[in-house]
Amino acid sequence: MKKLHWVGTVATILISASALSGCSGDDPAPMNMNTAGTGGSGTGGSGPSGGSAGAAPMGTQLQPPAMYVLLSGPDAAPNPNPAPAAWKSMTTACNGCHGENGEGLANIAPEVRHTPAAFAQQVIRNGRKFMNQTTLMLPFAQTSLNDADMMSIITWLNTAPKPTTGQGLYKDFCGNCHGPTTPSGGSVPISIQNKLRADVKLKVRNGEGTDQSMRNLYMPAHSTMDLSDAELDLILDFIQAK
Ligand code: HEC
Ligand code: HEC
Repeated sequence: MKKLHWVGTVATILISASALSGCSGDDPAPMNMNTAGTGGSGTGGSGPSGGSAGAAPMGTQLQPPAMYVLLSGPDAAPNPNPAPAAWKSMTTACNGCHGENGEGLANIAPEVRHTPAAFAQQVIRNGRKFMNQTTLMLPFAQTSLNDADMMSIITWLNTAPKPTTGQGLYKDFCGNCHGPTTPSGGSVPISIQNKLRADVKLKVRNGEGTDQSMRNLYMPAHSTMDLSDAELDLILDFIQAK
């Protein structure tokens, strides 16, 4: 069972890698072509309504893995605490996709440092979908990763040194969903630039949406433990909130 999981993981990487390279050339990539033009203004108000049909409003957007954040330099400083064994065991191989320090690996998987804990648990147990498509982030059951080991991984990821600049913090905390280096294009096709600071703060603290398995439909709540007010202010400056 354990072995099968690992073999499946490797196979998925290989299949996906070839699918992706085939994709970058001439595939018309329907997701990308959908330029509804309504940006965020149409339905952006109070969040996604129903959820499951995958009929989320789509704008021009980058696709995975191009939208994944890769942290580097001081933004990816190694955690002084050693990685828990479960992070790099044969059954999980989190490091094989997310990098030794959770900084992300080009063309495979995004950075996962400082993901709010409740949300991280949900993703690890249920896997991840994007536009209703299963991604390389497959679910990990208790049999391959028990609760204690899962929590040790999440705690370790959350005690990694944080970036100290607005852009670094943006990439670490918002970039996977709102655009990898600037808030100009990500898997969430709405703009978060030039918004009122108070509104952005409220959204970040409260989160949005209910379907946690879908990157484009769910934003985790970020507590002050995840992200201090001072850090959030740096992000707001970076995204030019008013
Ligand atoms: C086969 C590659 C692969 C393995 C192994 C893997 N992941 Fe992932 N993971 C991904 C990909 C790809 C995504 C992004 C999926 C998406 O939303 O498009 C992801 C997403 C995540 C996220 C959500 C990040 C976010 O910002 O939404 C977390 C947390 C996470 N992984 C943690 C882990 C942990 C912990 C392990 C080990 C137990 C692990 N992953 C193993 C590929 C992998
Ligand atoms: C895991 C993905 C994810 C992360 C991480 C994330 N967001 Fe979001 N964000 C979303 C989704 C999904 C929405 C809702 C989109 C919708 O309503 O259609 C959203 C909505 C928003 C909105 C509301 C925009 C509007 O006009 O309604 C703001 C502001 C925002 N996010 C800012 C941020 C900031 C700042 C960060 C980093 C601190 C962040 N988000 C992190 C996914 C994410």
